[in-house]
Amino acid sequence: MTDPNWNADGEIEGARREPGARPYGILLVDDEPGILESLELTLGSDYRVFKAESGEAGLEILNAEEIALIIVDQVMPSMTGVEFLEKAIERNPRAIRMLLTGYSDLGSLARAINEGRIYSYVTKPWEPDDVRLNVKRALETYELATENIQLAAALSEANERLRAENVYLRREVERRYAFDQILGSSPAMERVFDVMEKVAETDATVLITGETGTGKDLVARAIHYSGPRKQRRFVAQNCAALPDTLLESELFGHKRGSFTGAHADKKGLFEIAHRGTIFLDEVGETHPGMQVRLLRVLQDGEIRSLGASNSINVDVRVIAATNRNLLEDVAQKRFREDLYYRLRVVEIALPPLRERRSDIPLLAHHFLDFASRKMNRKIQGFTNAAMDRLVAAEWSGNVRELENEIERIVALSGDVETIGVEMLSERLRNEPPPAETPGEVPTDLPLNTAVDGLKRRMITDAIRETGSKTRAAARLGIPRQSLQKMMKRLGLS
Ligand SMILES: Nc1ncnc2c1ncn2[C@@H]1O[C@H](COP(=O)(O)OP(=O)(O)OP(=O)(O)O)[C@@H](O)[C@H]1O
Ligand SMILES: [Mg+2]
Repeated sequence: MTDPNWNADGEIEGARREPGARPYGILLVDDEPGILESLELTLGSDYRVFKAESGEAGLEILNAEEIALIIVDQVMPSMTGVEFLEKAIERNPRAIRMLLTGYSDLGSLARAINEGRIYSYVTKPWEPDDVRLNVKRALETYELATENIQLAAALSEANERLRAENVYLRREVERRYAFDQILGSSPAMERVFDVMEKVAETDATVLITGETGTGKDLVARAIHYSGPRKQRRFVAQNCAALPDTLLESELFGHKRGSFTGAHADKKGLFEIAHRGTIFLDEVGETHPGMQVRLLRVLQDGEIRSLGASNSINVDVRVIAATNRNLLEDVAQKRFREDLYYRLRVVEIALPPLRERRSDIPLLAHHFLDFASRKMNRKIQGFTNAAMDRLVAAEWSGNVRELENEIERIVALSGDVETIGVEMLSERLRNEPPPAETPGEVPTDLPLNTAVDGLKRRMITDAIRETGSKTRAAARLGIPRQSLQKMMKRLGLS
């Protein structure tokens, strides 16, 4: 077995830095030149050795040279070794410090070691190999410490980067759920934005109603992320997704052993959302027992976990959503009336897409841009005929259905510039655009007046909903010029 400390000549090998790096610098301080000489002889072949015959001279070298290890004699005329090391620490705190000492002054030595001033000591007289080994170990310590400092610096830099990234991500999330992600310029949506803006600033409980896919989720998040609670949690729970007991434990938490399978205490979402917002999706699906518990939180801000003996207070803003007609459920005694009114402090009713067709072109383009970018396509837009179909479709799945339709088209589109009717899904292609509901047939008007009235309504609707006269004309099935003439005659601008 070869000892890694010994070289071929039977000497202790010096501590090596990585190949190519300068050997370590060692500062020797002693007032006896003979000792300096002999130490230099022991260490000079492996290291860069600097000699000083006094503490003062040693400090000057420390200022000028890169020193990894200091060996200093304890007994010197102008300053002691320990005094010298005190000063050396200020100049080069990382250098490893060793004391040369006779057995006579072990007392000061012990003190110096205890105070962490020195790493080790060499007693006079010394064995050259002892010194070499001691120095080698000391320099390995120095190397580790240096590496530690570098790692710590790298770590703190990485932390800094992560922190910056977190700030960025948080902003992203906020941006993602900010108002500007909710598109719509129809009067109906303008009204929705108006209410949202006002209500976001407050803690008022909000009930969001609307058919599936109308954007209830989106609106709930936007309210949270644009209000004063945005730094706190937004937690969402779909009340239809879980059986009763599980929903209860999810929302209110449970104590260990409160039911089979409750192996540990669990915090409920109301507690987790403290100071933030809880979103109770599909609140209309809750059972009577749950409705009572919800009422209690809304009234008193109190929750009690399953199996707990006490209630605790929470400060949570509640936003609820439903695609049911809750008022009808109240009438049918399926939903508690008191809870309904507690939830519906402010109601935001999202209109179905078919009642705001003028938003369809905007939404369609938005989803097209998004999907094109995601799938690396260069589609610019829709042909007029395709857009007419989109505007006129039924969209029982509302915005979500439109979004899916466009994503599907883009995925299957290949390399085209515009989306034509032939690329729409079969249902949209084949179903004739639903006729406008004519409404009541007027019985008290001359036929021509009544017909003109209907024409006026259909034309204004078509223009409002398609956003252009060309598309309106196409939708109405008449040439653009005829539309213009007709509008003039009917007094439409
Ligand atoms: N006004 C809008 N602008 C942009 N995207 C919208 C808009 N409304 C809805 N969306 C998009 O449509 C999809 C459905 O919206 P969301 O999930 O909010 O609907 P929902 O009313 O919660 O539906 P459900 O009742 O089925 O839960 C989402 O991808 C959402 O981003
Ligand atoms: Mg939803």
